Amino acid sequence: MLVAPSVLSADFGRLARDVAAICDAGCDLVHVDVMDGHFVPNLTIGPVVVSAIAAAATKPLDIHLMVENNTFFVDLFAPLKPGYISFHIEEEKNPHRLVQYIRSLGIKPAIVLNPHTPPEAVEFLLPYLDMVLIMSVNPGFGGQKFIDVYEKIRRLRSLRDRINPGCLIEVDGGVTDENIRALEAAGVDVCVAGSFVFKHAEGFKTAIDILRG
Ligand code: DX5
Ligand code: ZN
Repeated sequence: MLVAPSVLSADFGRLARDVAAICDAGCDLVHVDVMDGHFVPNLTIGPVVVSAIAAAATKPLDIHLMVENNTFFVDLFAPLKPGYISFHIEEEKNPHRLVQYIRSLGIKPAIVLNPHTPPEAVEFLLPYLDMVLIMSVNPGFGGQKFIDVYEKIRRLRSLRDRINPGCLIEVDGGVTDENIRALEAAGVDVCVAGSFVFKHAEGFKTAIDILRG
């Protein structure tokens, strides 16, 4: 299980320190939630703050776009050389074109599915993807209650195993020590966790080690 702490739950007054600390604590990716106030009812961070995160991180960034104009934001963040950029399929008219564009920039392309979107929505895109992210909350905020997505993950895993075994399955929202092993059994390869990592009483390393299993 790869672990991608969501910086949304970090202490933004001490952002560089927290980002360096999750990397030192052994996370695999640094998950960065970019919200534009239109696609979701929340507004988070833009290129100035994401560059500060990139400067502090010693692990690849996993940029999760929750925005209306995906290509505009891909162009904003591409100079930071993130590991992954993921965008919501619900907000993209030409997802195949955008996936190819992201790859042409040397970044791994990923697609995100909201809770209501079936895994079959990415079936014909799977050959071109490095990761599919299944939302287990409605996007917009950290600290929400986990939505049951186990059957969806199992269906995506069977598509993935048949079409593109190298494509990772990531889950995002409400991930804790209580659901992580069931998510792993369903087929998750990468977990995003905000509150569980940043608010854990025993610190980032303990939280990350618990999630990794
Ligand atoms: C929600 C974001 C998540 C969020 C996860 O829209 O995509 O990455 O920060 O936070 P937790 O783990 O607290 O649900
Ligand atoms: Zn996210």
